[in-house]
Amino acid sequence: MSLLFRHFRRSAGLLAPALVAALLCVAPRVSAQVDQAVYDQGEKLFKANCGSCHKPDKDMTGPAVKGARERWEGKGDLHLWIKDSQAYIKSGNAHAKQLFEEHNKIVMPPQAVSTEEIDAILYYADNFAPAGAKKPTEPTAAVPAEEPSSNWEWLVITGLLLLVVLLSLGGVRTQLANAVREKQGLPAEPVLGTWGRIKAWAVRNKGWASVAVLLIVVWMLVLLWNFLFNIGVYGGDKVAHYKPSQPIAFDHSLHAGKDNLAINCQYCHSGAEKSRHAGIPSANVCMNCHQAVSEGTKTGTEEIAKIYAATGWDPTAMKYTGEQKPIVWNKVHNLPDHVYFNHSQHVAVGKIECQECHGPVDTKMDQVEQWSPLTMAWCLDCHNTREVKVAGSENGYYKEIHRRLATTPMGQKELRKYLEDEKITVRELGGFECAKCHY
Ligand code: HEC
Ligand code: HEC
Ligand code: HEC
Ligand code: HEC
Ligand code: HEC
Ligand code: HEC
Repeated sequence: MSLLFRHFRRSAGLLAPALVAALLCVAPRVSAQVDQAVYDQGEKLFKANCGSCHKPDKDMTGPAVKGARERWEGKGDLHLWIKDSQAYIKSGNAHAKQLFEEHNKIVMPPQAVSTEEIDAILYYADNFAPAGAKKPTEPTAAVPAEEPSSNWEWLVITGLLLLVVLLSLGGVRTQLANAVREKQGLPAEPVLGTWGRIKAWAVRNKGWASVAVLLIVVWMLVLLWNFLFNIGVYGGDKVAHYKPSQPIAFDHSLHAGKDNLAINCQYCHSGAEKSRHAGIPSANVCMNCHQAVSEGTKTGTEEIAKIYAATGWDPTAMKYTGEQKPIVWNKVHNLPDHVYFNHSQHVAVGKIECQECHGPVDTKMDQVEQWSPLTMAWCLDCHNTREVKVAGSENGYYKEIHRRLATTPMGQKELRKYLEDEKITVRELGGFECAKCHY
């Protein structure tokens, strides 16, 4: 027994560093040079107090704060300046006075920040890295990323690793036990296969075995839950895109593709800019061209003949017969009735490309499919992060919002709150309000 125990200790001793190394690889990498806590504190204070006039790395109303400590070295007390620049100028500091004059005597108002807070702000500015650069870099394209994407996958992998370790320990255990039995003159224990070993282990360790079974059951339940949750949701990365058949094989990549006919989307979907619905063109729009084009490369005259049937065009006599059979296209996109979605709000006001919501219609779709999931989470995800350019916009809607934010004290307070992350998002302008999307 003690032999066994010693063996276990030895392999544990070997395993521990390996496990630690593995965990270090998994743990998010934290930069060793920058003290993230101070940086984050400084960033918050900077945005709340200084961001309306300063940028860390660029001149705005006030100069870039980065490097200020160095510039003030031996010339004055930067802390006193930040706490009350005018008082400091009056106290007779020459550098402060010169700075004030150089900046057209714009007054930097007294800042209600403590000495430690100023240190954090300056630390942030000196170490400022634009958003994105701060985060651990994305896996580069050169090495295909095979990192499992969810915590569940990590759990499963860890579980499998542990199982392998346990099994090999079990194998070692049997060998050692047999060595002992041999010394005592007893017959060797039967050699078990992998499955047999798992069973033997489970019998010996009922507690752990039930934990393992429980984990597996929970995992299966989660898979089932995800599966059920995605029923009725088309589009997105997870599920097949909804792609109903159509009465005429109309090819978007041929008509709208840049390398092909390159017809503008709004030539056919003219509602997108002006109204709630983008609209499906009537067959008359097709006839603008197809009176002359009666044959396609892929389908010959077969499909285009259906346009003629719909509009009552007789291609041999080159005239309309008056006998029409409207085309009934099958709807691809369909939000529930309780949801309000408006194209012009997104296309004309929000300036969002059709492709961002509908995918590569013009390059990849010979038949249209629902590209995005159209779930509430999908709408909200974009509203949560999407920046709207309110300031300086030509758009009347934004001009009015900007006027209200910039000219009333309440508005200014709100504006400062919006700008904490340096941008105004759709959410901040009301894009999370239930009533905006629901009747
Ligand atoms: C209302 C605008 C405004 C706000 C708010 C403001 N500053 Fe200033 N700051 C200025 C201006 C303008 C100057 C240039 C000197 C002058 O004209 O008074 C300046 C100068 C400075 C300088 C000197 C830069 C140099 O190159 O020497 C530092 C450092 C500074 N500000 C830090 C801060 C910090 C930190 C905060 C927030 C706690 C802050 N400022 C808030 C307008 C502002
Ligand atoms: C020549 C006319 C024409 C052009 C140009 C065109 N479309 Fe279409 N589009 C149609 C027709 C007809 C349908 C209905 C048949 C179908 O679904 O294929 C349609 C359907 C769609 C649908 C699916 C509508 C539904 O039922 O939910 C989307 C989305 C769409 N188009 C987007 C675009 C985008 C984006 C572009 C530009 C890249 C574009 N279209 C260019 C004619 C056109
Ligand atoms: C701006 C001109 C134009 C418009 C508008 C237009 N088409 Fe076409 N279409 C063409 C041309 C040109 C071709 C031939 C391309 C080829 O196959 O070489 C074509 C080909 C086709 C084909 C045959 C494709 C093949 O390869 O076999 C079909 C089907 C078709 N169009 C349907 C429609 C429908 C339906 C509409 C209206 C929603 C429409 N087109 C609107 C110009 C147009
Ligand atoms: C912000 C996302 C978004 C953008 C941008 C967008 N769409 Fe849509 N589109 C949708 C949604 C959501 C639906 C489903 C609407 C419904 O079922 O009421 C839809 C439906 C459609 C439809 C079929 C129903 C209808 O409204 O007539 C067409 C055609 C269409 N879009 C074309 C376009 C074109 C062309 C553009 C670019 C000019 C565009 N869309 C831009 C999200 C978008
Ligand atoms: C790709 C980004 C994107 C997606 C996806 C998106 N939106 Fe938007 N949405 C915007 C932008 C940008 C605006 C801002 C335009 C504006 O200021 O009115 C906006 C504005 C709105 C507004 C007006 C908000 C207000 O404050 O007046 C409504 C309502 C809305 N979206 C509904 C929806 C619905 C419903 C969906 C999902 C079916 C959706 N949006 C999906 C980007 C998106
Ligand atoms: C930006 C637009 C948007 C906003 C804001 C929004 N919703 Fe939704 N909501 C949707 C869309 C789109 C769907 C349809 C989802 C689907 O069909 O899968 C939906 C569906 C729902 C449903 C039906 C359940 C379902 O999954 O179909 C409920 C309930 C609901 N929303 C409640 C709310 C409440 C409560 C709020 C406010 C806190 C809210 N929504 C805000 C867009 C929005």
